[in-house]
Amino acid sequence: MTHSTHSIKALVETLQAMPAPERTFASDNSAGAHPAVMAALAQANQNHALAYGSDPWTAQTQAHFKSLFGEHTESLLVFGGSGANVMALATLLQAGECVVCSDKAHIALDETGAPERALGAKLLMLPTCDGKIKPEQLEALKSMVGVQHSAQPGVLSITQPTELGALYSVEEIAALCDTAHAMDMRVHLDGARIANATAALGGTINALRAFTSDVGVDVLSFGGTKAGLMFGEAVIYLNPIYARRAKYVRKQVNQLPSKMRFVAAQFNALLTDNLWIQLAQQANAMSRRLYDATVSLKGISFDAVPQVNSSFPIIPAQLITPLSDWCMFWDWDMSRSQVRWMTAWDTTEVDVDHFAAGVEAALSVIHSNI
Ligand SMILES: Cc1ncc(COP(=O)(O)O)c(C=O)c1O
Repeated sequence: MTHSTHSIKALVETLQAMPAPERTFASDNSAGAHPAVMAALAQANQNHALAYGSDPWTAQTQAHFKSLFGEHTESLLVFGGSGANVMALATLLQAGECVVCSDKAHIALDETGAPERALGAKLLMLPTCDGKIKPEQLEALKSMVGVQHSAQPGVLSITQPTELGALYSVEEIAALCDTAHAMDMRVHLDGARIANATAALGGTINALRAFTSDVGVDVLSFGGTKAGLMFGEAVIYLNPIYARRAKYVRKQVNQLPSKMRFVAAQFNALLTDNLWIQLAQQANAMSRRLYDATVSLKGISFDAVPQVNSSFPIIPAQLITPLSDWCMFWDWDMSRSQVRWMTAWDTTEVDVDHFAAGVEAALSVIHSNI
């Protein structure tokens, strides 16, 4: 047996002897639905209700979103997050235009080209470290404006928090919206994890408005699935001008749920008494707890302190497979042996403590074998 197979065996045995966390650190999508959401689904599952949104549950969800963002806003429920993004972009983009986004954006990397296919338009990716675009990068696109050989910058799509768990400050989003609007562009915000951003930026409705409706975001994708629903997202038209064609576009991009009451009932449970913010606070706190428990361990480093529910540690390469076999998480950038640890609304302190203990024990096996 070689030295390295010996140490892998020791790693596996060490981990197997430890209590594995009940929940994984793979994704917030790995969590189930919150019990209040399941109860709401059961409650909505009675008798007949009109389809396609003409039901009392959907009316209630629309009222909830108006109370969050203002009476003039419009919300439309959809099945999924990629669909929400495609629909939002399709209602904002005009012929001859492109969507400007970061090179880490979900719309650019993880939607199988759905936006390009549905929009028939280019996504122009701007280079970023953590997914955050800077106003100067938008300004630099002014050289394309009016050039008939260039797709015209039409929509800026930002993600809050970004795919790398970074948060834009209120001022940063305000500056991006101002720059985009001055260039005659519209602004879309991918809020698949908007609950986590809201929790991190103050945990109040005012905090939510501060980085969305107050600063000029035109349309946002409001995430429900990662926040505790079984499925379902909402497209929110903060600027109602763009809602005029939204219901037709929703159907065209296959995002019109016929039994919409089941998406709506889930949202009603999540939005009641700010449950969505409380659940995101829990997920964020568990990510911070995991960071605090592991940051000083020898052999691990982080680019940044987690701001929301994910962290991206760099760990010894030989640790990745045994550790993720013991408790699942995804690799991120294998060129740096960087992985992603993501918490969810149901991650507990015990899960985190067990996981951190496993990481510590595995690292000491590696160091004792050097
Ligand atoms: C930033 C972001 N946007 C959108 C989505 C929605 O994707 P889905 O279509 O899988 O719900 C995700 C899911 O991982 C995401 O991380």
